[in-house]
Amino acid sequence: MKEVVVSGIRSTGYLHLGNYFGAIKNYIRMQEEYNCFFFVADYHALTTLPDPSTLKENVYRVIAENVASGLDPQKAAIYVQSDLNEIPELYLLLNMLAYKGELEKTASFKDKARAQPDNINAGLLTYPTLMAADIIIHRASKVPVGKDQEQHLEMTRNFAKRFNHRYGDLFPEPTAFNFGEDLVKIPSLDGKGKMSKSENENATIYLNDTDEKIRKKIMKAKTDSGPTEAGTPKPDYIQNIFHLLELVSSEEVYADFEKAYQGCEIRYGDMKKQLAEDMIKFVTPIREKAEAYGKDIPFIKNIMKEGKEKAKESASKTLEEARKLIGISY
Ligand code: TRP
Repeated sequence: MKEVVVSGIRSTGYLHLGNYFGAIKNYIRMQEEYNCFFFVADYHALTTLPDPSTLKENVYRVIAENVASGLDPQKAAIYVQSDLNEIPELYLLLNMLAYKGELEKTASFKDKARAQPDNINAGLLTYPTLMAADIIIHRASKVPVGKDQEQHLEMTRNFAKRFNHRYGDLFPEPTAFNFGEDLVKIPSLDGKGKMSKSENENATIYLNDTDEKIRKKIMKAKTDSGPTEAGTPKPDYIQNIFHLLELVSSEEVYADFEKAYQGCEIRYGDMKKQLAEDMIKFVTPIREKAEAYGKDIPFIKNIMKEGKEKAKESASKTLEEARKLIGISY
């Protein structure tokens, strides 16, 4: 039997290059080899009180963008968390195995409690048990997430272990998994940190950016007058531009600019122009598909429905066994 992979996608913000190369590219590869469940984490989003009037369109958009980027509803189950009532039921059961102390010392809880002191709700506190339920409801062994989720995964393993110990073996202990050593981090265009939804919009390339916007953002990226001595190491912000070039341009183009750099005759203006045009070639098809899918609500709803059916089949089996082991079977 194929190993099970589960990952949750947050339904906030537009997808950007960092999401694509850091996560979605991994998902695309995984859907070929594993039994994959990818879902929009709409319940998790409620912990920060999103505007009800935009929730639905955000969920549709996330699905449109992810499918436009290459997630395949034929290969993976693509669904919405709140469409599986098995998840909140397992969440409730797991909450009996989760201790207040460990929940309170979770880093993400402490961060959120600091960020929203007027709304430190129980959903925020039990975010890790909901995430654990998402994962073990399909008895997943692999979870493609980055470092920031490692603590949640560790807690998932603890809840799974506790369940198995108390009631009998049911859940594997899932671990973080990505192709390659580490997740690819996409540097932001201003040379500070990585591309991110919240911090630096103008230094982040979104998969729905127009050609003009992409050109503008890339042409504004920081450079200098270039090396004057052979063997000069590349400053971070220049390394970043090369990194992006490596991701979206051809090997020849990359090699040409590398040679120009080594020969101290690089023209960063030309390099950025080239990068902008290659970036546009990369982003445009995704943007156009996402736009078309986003307008085709029946298409999106059908993906959600098929995903729900596949996911429900797996989730209901697990839940039935969990209930039986606990003794809730009358
Ligand atoms: N907490 C994850 C994040 O912030 C999203 C998520 C929710 C998730 N449930 C999950 C990720 C289950 C992997 C598996 O990105």
